[in-house]
Amino acid sequence: MHGYDKTTPLHDKPGNDTGHPAIEFRNVTKLYGQFAAVSDLSLNVARGEFLTILGPSGSGKTTTLMLLAGFEAPNEGDIRIYGKSVSSVPSYRRDQGIVFQSYALFPHLNVRRNLEFPLEMRGVKAGERAARVDRILDRVHLSDLGYRMPSQLSGGQQQRVALARALIADPPILLLDEPLGALDRNLREQMQGEIKGLHKEFGITTVCVTHDQEEALTLSDRIVVMRAGRIEQTDSPEALYDRPISRFVASFLGEANIFEHTHFIVESDATRPARSVAMIRPERICISPDDGSTRADSDQRQSVIGTVDDMIYAGPLRKYHVRVGSDLVIVREHVASGQLVFRPGDVVRIDWLRSDVRFVAP
Ligand SMILES: Nc1ncnc2c1ncn2[C@@H]1O[C@H](COP(=O)(O)OP(=O)(O)OP(=O)(O)O)[C@@H](O)[C@H]1O
Ligand SMILES: [Mg+2]
Repeated sequence: MHGYDKTTPLHDKPGNDTGHPAIEFRNVTKLYGQFAAVSDLSLNVARGEFLTILGPSGSGKTTTLMLLAGFEAPNEGDIRIYGKSVSSVPSYRRDQGIVFQSYALFPHLNVRRNLEFPLEMRGVKAGERAARVDRILDRVHLSDLGYRMPSQLSGGQQQRVALARALIADPPILLLDEPLGALDRNLREQMQGEIKGLHKEFGITTVCVTHDQEEALTLSDRIVVMRAGRIEQTDSPEALYDRPISRFVASFLGEANIFEHTHFIVESDATRPARSVAMIRPERICISPDDGSTRADSDQRQSVIGTVDDMIYAGPLRKYHVRVGSDLVIVREHVASGQLVFRPGDVVRIDWLRSDVRFVAP
């Protein structure tokens, strides 16, 4: 699968056929003084998986990646790659391609020389180095810029070179820390497509750190949400969005209506766990004019009358804040032609499927 050059592998991929996960964290703790930047973290990453670590600033994402890369050592626990503990393996021998935001290109080397560097380190001969550089430059659409110095490249071009440099030695594992942090929205999206394409083609096990939730949803097979050095939830993007376990996850990934004590979301005690709050995504709520009817709620749907407090137009979306008693409900709908538009002060009915209400940890 990772066949950048299948005929002349640069290394034996250790234990590649033993059935172990590519990466295992076993009860890993990293202390800075008394402070646990990472606490008792356990996590497996499957071969070929694209795993994203998402979380607020200071939650331990970079520390987790530094531990994996071998730039930091755990105080407790063990990290295994292909089933083998790497605690005594220095970072340069871990065979990982790394793109850290702070990992600048070598400023005194042109693009080609930057790309050759990891190959030189591995003793690859000049002829083969040149061939590999040609191929990877083509892959990241930078063939014309091989003789430029890093200072003569745009930020996006530099990040593409950094990505190419991480990939050129055909590493079994790729670590990305905010790889697109410096880019504007358009370039970000273009590069996301690039990274996704490369991942698909090379099948490299990838661990990516970001605090950009859209990036996480777009790229990942699974997402880990970290909170204060611990894993809050690990799931597929869909599961994480649709079935967050906690208010923290629900609010961190996308927008969420959270109701702590609510009269209008009625659930039998049997289905509502103790100590929970109700959560519903704004796009799962429909808005319509209040026709004055006293429509009974069905088994499936529930509705309530409210007053539009605010309407925010955001291109393809229209967002309403609807006041229902002391609660403010966010409703989001896609703008379509011929659609009714409500204004502040309008009395409306909002309704939703009961099954779209989630009860999550407070
Ligand atoms: N060398 C260090 N010494 C002391 N504390 C540190 C050190 N490195 C990180 N920390 C602390 O550990 C915590 C986790 O830091 P980390 O860099 O992993 O966060 P992060 O999730 O990557 O955040 P961001 O999104 O801001 O990059 C933070 O509170 C940080 O201040
Ligand atoms: Mg960080």
